[in-house]
Amino acid sequence: MSNRIHTLGGYIHEYQKSVLEPENFWSRVADSFYWRKRWDKVVDWNFDEPKVQWFVNAKLNITENILDRHLFTMGDKPAIIWEPNEPDEPNRILTYKELHREVCKFSNVLKKNGIEKGDRVIIYMPMVPEAAVAMLACARVGAIHSVVFAGFSAQSLADRINDCQAKMVLTSDGNFRGKKSIPVKAVVDEALAQTDTIQNVICFKRTGTDVTMESGRDLWWHEEMQGISEENKAEEMDSEDMLFILYTSGSTGKPKGVVHTCGGYMVYTQYTFNNVFQYSSDDVYWCTADVGWITGHSYIVYGPLLAGATTIMFEGVPTYPNPGRFWAIVDKYKVNQFYTAPTAIRALEAFGTEPIEPYKLDSLKVLGTVGEPINEEAWHWYHDHIGKGKCPIVDTWWQTETGGILISPIPGVTPTKPAYATLPLPGIQPIIVDSEGNELKGNSVQGNLCIKFPWPSMLRTTYGDHERCKNTYFSNYKGLYFTGDGVKRDEDGYYRILGRVDDVINVSGHRMGTAEVENAINEHPKVIESAVVGYPHDIKGQGIYAYVICDLANRSEDNLKNEIKETVSKIIGPIAKPEKIQIVPGLPKTRSGKIMRRILRKVAEGDTSSLGDTSTLLNPEVVDEIIKGAQ
Ligand code: WTA
Repeated sequence: MSNRIHTLGGYIHEYQKSVLEPENFWSRVADSFYWRKRWDKVVDWNFDEPKVQWFVNAKLNITENILDRHLFTMGDKPAIIWEPNEPDEPNRILTYKELHREVCKFSNVLKKNGIEKGDRVIIYMPMVPEAAVAMLACARVGAIHSVVFAGFSAQSLADRINDCQAKMVLTSDGNFRGKKSIPVKAVVDEALAQTDTIQNVICFKRTGTDVTMESGRDLWWHEEMQGISEENKAEEMDSEDMLFILYTSGSTGKPKGVVHTCGGYMVYTQYTFNNVFQYSSDDVYWCTADVGWITGHSYIVYGPLLAGATTIMFEGVPTYPNPGRFWAIVDKYKVNQFYTAPTAIRALEAFGTEPIEPYKLDSLKVLGTVGEPINEEAWHWYHDHIGKGKCPIVDTWWQTETGGILISPIPGVTPTKPAYATLPLPGIQPIIVDSEGNELKGNSVQGNLCIKFPWPSMLRTTYGDHERCKNTYFSNYKGLYFTGDGVKRDEDGYYRILGRVDDVINVSGHRMGTAEVENAINEHPKVIESAVVGYPHDIKGQGIYAYVICDLANRSEDNLKNEIKETVSKIIGPIAKPEKIQIVPGLPKTRSGKIMRRILRKVAEGDTSSLGDTSTLLNPEVVDEIIKGAQ
């Protein structure tokens, strides 16, 4: 039933089948789900408009597959185990039956407050089970959720609310993160001063911090849930109705709303969860991501719960109260599959092996990584010290836009190779092209990574702006989905992701558009112009390096740099703060006025030996000054 692959031969067979007869392949996978009405056609697509439809005309509700479908077989099995920030605060466990009840009740709360099919609801919440309840309740009533990472600023939140014209915000009073208690509702209040579509805010009480509740608009979660019916019939959705919007950064200044739809996303996230983690029925699975990112959507909430898994949600941070916290949690719940980001691995590696020593970690079977390339050293540390040499590492490559994992080893089935995402999963047809779009065939080639055939959980559009979707992903190379990543296919045919080839920086696995950060820096009244590049950072993978031209009159450089960091933090959020700021007299530009980022990148990397010919620049003299200033 789970469509699980068990052997290398099985992988080869399934992969071939998925390429030669994709419709038969996906129809067999989809048959294990509960559909109110079966599809008329498996897939209908062209990458020119682009138009992609999966399981055409099928009817379903994804929450019936997550909740109702599992009630009789596993009602008493833990669905979500919640581990709080403070190790001695009691944890919470919601069984499938309890999760079903909470979701039904909250669905009724949404409906009572006027939420209807197609309405957009923003979820701006910390890592508490109610965040998952909120997502599933939206899906149950047919509302389109858009989760915004609770670390984003009021401005970023307001931009997202306005872009999707949301009707409601679900939030909490505050958020516990390590030693800190962070206000959340206050940020929402500030955001709502810049929006006019929100009718209600429902606030979950978590930290007990004082909040202002605007009468007629703001409601308490616990009061709304009191006395509400536990019966709720899920809304019937078309396979291609929107399930959610998730905003992500690209090469332009404005984040785009990536749209995922119900049927295909459901089929693909469960299929990949089962195969990539080789989950068996009594296992405990833990993904450390935040629900504000796609990993939290697909592999904390939807994939695992569709598969009937027990999924852990952790509220805190890896280093609180000490850098052994992850390993304490692994032992506490006897975690079998552990999925985290390379940046977390490198941060913990920096503390040495002492924090690991008190723990057995003998329940672990599979280790995963996601979000950025993992360097070989971190891979080996993870493999040797956490996996004790016996757990395969699944280096999973995918994107917000892809909805689910596309390239990854299948543990115990296909080989692993340090720093390689290795092989495409069944249904995924990668192709490498050069900058002109010529296919680079065979092995030992390197170029831009594209996908040539649709898969069920790919993005359908960017919300409210289909042209943008077309231009960003389907116009660079005709007939192909362009990922924005560079890739190498080695002599054995394994894929290694080399990082972004566009103006996107990956900081601790979080995508930041250089233009977005530049726009924020430019908001500072003393800034005249800026250029942002990424540079290699030991822990974060990449750090943000900003070159800034500014008016220094009557100010010290240090004060101004701090003010610029604060400006960015206020406009986007603390994750976008530049690590390094260099005040420069000018920026290297081509004669047509384009900033030569290649040069700025080299200087930021500390590699000034191979800057190439700078004599054709409009202002070659500025390069020497920048190099001097960097030292
Ligand atoms: C990068 C995260 C190397 C890549 C799921 C991609 C990776 C971007 C890997 C998407 C990996 C993700 N190895 N690079 N295993 N996984 N990336 O949308 O550059 O937050 O394009 O989705 O992260 O980031 P996003």
